[in-house]
Amino acid sequence: MKNILITGGAGFIGTNFIRYLLLESDFSGRIVNVDKLTYAGNPENLADIEQTCSDRYCFQKVDICDAAALANIFSEFEIDTVCHFAAESHVDRSIAAPDAFVQTNIVGTFNLLEAARGHQGRLIRFHHISTDEVYGSLGADGYFREDTPYDPSSPYSASKAASDHLVRAYFKTYGLPVTLSNCSNNYGPYQFPEKLIPLIILNGIEGSALPVYGDGRNIRDWLYVEDHCRAVWEVMKRGEPGKTYNIGGRGEMRNIDVVRMICDLLDDMEPLPDKRPHRDLIQFVKDRPGHDLRYAIDFSRLQRELGWEPTESFGTGIRKTILWYMENRSWVERVKSGAYRKWMEEHYGRDKD
Ligand code: NAD
Ligand code: DAU
Repeated sequence: MKNILITGGAGFIGTNFIRYLLLESDFSGRIVNVDKLTYAGNPENLADIEQTCSDRYCFQKVDICDAAALANIFSEFEIDTVCHFAAESHVDRSIAAPDAFVQTNIVGTFNLLEAARGHQGRLIRFHHISTDEVYGSLGADGYFREDTPYDPSSPYSASKAASDHLVRAYFKTYGLPVTLSNCSNNYGPYQFPEKLIPLIILNGIEGSALPVYGDGRNIRDWLYVEDHCRAVWEVMKRGEPGKTYNIGGRGEMRNIDVVRMICDLLDDMEPLPDKRPHRDLIQFVKDRPGHDLRYAIDFSRLQRELGWEPTESFGTGIRKTILWYMENRSWVERVKSGAYRKWMEEHYGRDKD
């Protein structure tokens, strides 16, 4: 792996992955970060990397729906490996406006697969990032395994399921050496504050309402983003072509318990001016349509075959995450006010659309 094309590297997990590869891992090659810079992409996250690792990192503002632009990237940078994070990723947005999900998640993945397949006859190693949401919803018991049948509930998870099927088809039909990983809910630094954890932390710090959908009893498994990045890198290095690896955090929690835990930590780390408990800010709101009840991951394949384990418990990871948001107020301000978009336009030009 000399020249890795990473898609969606200006988003939450992609940013963490690029930082991990360049600053912490044993990777010694070059990275090309291809990102369209939607509302969720913020290349300021990697501004320091652009300076300090300029010989090993470069950014290309490209939409993965643009097949011709992708083909150029593969040739110009002699790409031999792909790690595909780029996606529309927020379930609520997919319910309000599914079109972009079909375009980016399905058509965009198809374009990338075609570019990888057609690249000068060379065999490109292709790692696809997917989600546990493709498996649908669990009841009170059981775990998602790699052979659990797909049963997606939202336009988001249906589009991810479609992309997973395409990736597997390219292995079976064309012999493209692919691997897939399906992980649970990530949390940690640089997450856009539309997702539950950063939203609750930032609203809690501000003293505004903390919205909990339905009765708050839905369960998610929480995976610290750096643990996820380590797992992806192990799969890319040692995963078996054609195989899927589930990645979980051993962190199953009800949403209401996640929110209460953040409230209690904030009472200590960032008390409200009037010393009111943060739990007073919790508001139960209308439920998400088609809201999956429970996700839980059996990641024993990854443990057994690649020796990976999560290192962060939810208790340690959430404290680190709150601290990161407290210590990075200017990042938060720029993201919340949209100031980062102005910076992007100055550096990478304004979008036509
Ligand atoms: P994100 O929304 O934070 O980032 C997505 C990135 O993709 C952004 O930088 C955006 O600009 C870019 N992008 C979107 N459309 C694009 C296009 N057409 N062309 C090029 N770039 C485009 O997402 P994330 O949370 O970092 O998720 C990354 C991947 O991991 C996604 O594939 C998602 O489905 C998957 N995933 C995420 C989680 C999670 O908890 N966040 C869990 C499981 C799987
Ligand atoms: O499971 C993996 C998935 O996790 C990824 O594939 C998605 O890209 C990622 O967005 C995430 O999806 P969720 O829908 O689980 O994440 P979200 O943070 O939106 O919601 C987490 C849970 O919290 C979910 O049960 C809905 C609930 N929720 C969410 C928000 C934003 C609330 O109760 N209130 C909220 O304001």
